[in-house]
Amino acid sequence: MGNAVSARGLLKKFGDAVAVDGIDFDVREGECFGIIGPNGAGKTTTMKMIYCATPRTSGELSVLGRDPGDCPEEIKKDLGVIPQENTLDTDFDVITNLLIHARYFGIPRDRARACAGELLEFIQLSEREKSPVDDLSSGMRRRLLIARGLMNDPRLLILDEPTVGLDPQARHLIWDKLRMLRKASVTLLLTTHYMEEAAELCDRVAVMDRGRILAIGPPGELIRTHIGEEVLELVLSSEDQERIPGDVQHHPARMEITSQKCLLYCEDCRSLVTHLTERGYRNIHRRPATLEDVFLTLTGRDLVE
Ligand SMILES: Nc1ncnc2c1ncn2[C@@H]1O[C@H](COP(=O)(O)OP(=O)(O)OP(=O)(O)O)[C@@H](O)[C@H]1O
Ligand SMILES: [Mg+2]
Repeated sequence: MGNAVSARGLLKKFGDAVAVDGIDFDVREGECFGIIGPNGAGKTTTMKMIYCATPRTSGELSVLGRDPGDCPEEIKKDLGVIPQENTLDTDFDVITNLLIHARYFGIPRDRARACAGELLEFIQLSEREKSPVDDLSSGMRRRLLIARGLMNDPRLLILDEPTVGLDPQARHLIWDKLRMLRKASVTLLLTTHYMEEAAELCDRVAVMDRGRILAIGPPGELIRTHIGEEVLELVLSSEDQERIPGDVQHHPARMEITSQKCLLYCEDCRSLVTHLTERGYRNIHRRPATLEDVFLTLTGRDLVE
């Protein structure tokens, strides 16, 4: 299998400001690849270069075997795009938004109608097909945007924060659909702030910060390599914050203190819990390591600050 996307030294500047700082990565055909990172990391800018919405400043970029600088129209035929911002047409009702989109792709009217009907059923908006877009809730608009991105049966589906603002039921509905598409060999490229989403869906993730990619790999592998299995979380008084470094110094644990809590990445968490309890610490929470811990370890900062 080849690569659906391939980037080498991909750079984007806005004036003097570097938004994407010469990144290298490949998205393999048929995989689900996620980009995670805090606000302003450069995720959307990266996506926009890939879906031909903004030109790169320098570097190499190949999308479905073509260069977005040379033949954006050819590439766009095979892309489904769910942008971060709402780009629905407020002049039209729900179903017309889908049908007009189908027209851009030259999809015959009958097929477009059938496809729109199926997608509206899937996103549970069949009963609202004649509603003006402005009358929908923000979660419903998000669902409609996802349906629109699927109208042309894309080979590569690009989703920028697909489930932001969705309730848990709608989020699971979308996750199921994305899993089905992946099984049908559609390549998925998504950004997300939800670590659970990245861990659930993505074969591989790139951790991005300040325009750079800090690590790439399967979520489980990144967690094992950078963190281990478990983490201890403690909420500390200022007095405890001062004494804790001394209290853990003889234990093989790495410590991160954020504004809200103290995290201990340890190989043998159980014995450390016993030790800390004996030393008078309370409210020790033992939990599995996550991608959020990977981010904190790589940058020294919380993902959401
Ligand atoms: N059109 C633009 N003009 C100038 N600067 C921009 C433009 N678009 C993005 N930037 C800047 O580029 C940087 C990266 O922005 P980008 O939108 O790619 O981040 P992001 O990772 O998608 O963040 P978020 O999680 O908030 O969506 C930011 O510093 C942003 O201010
Ligand atoms: Mg963004």
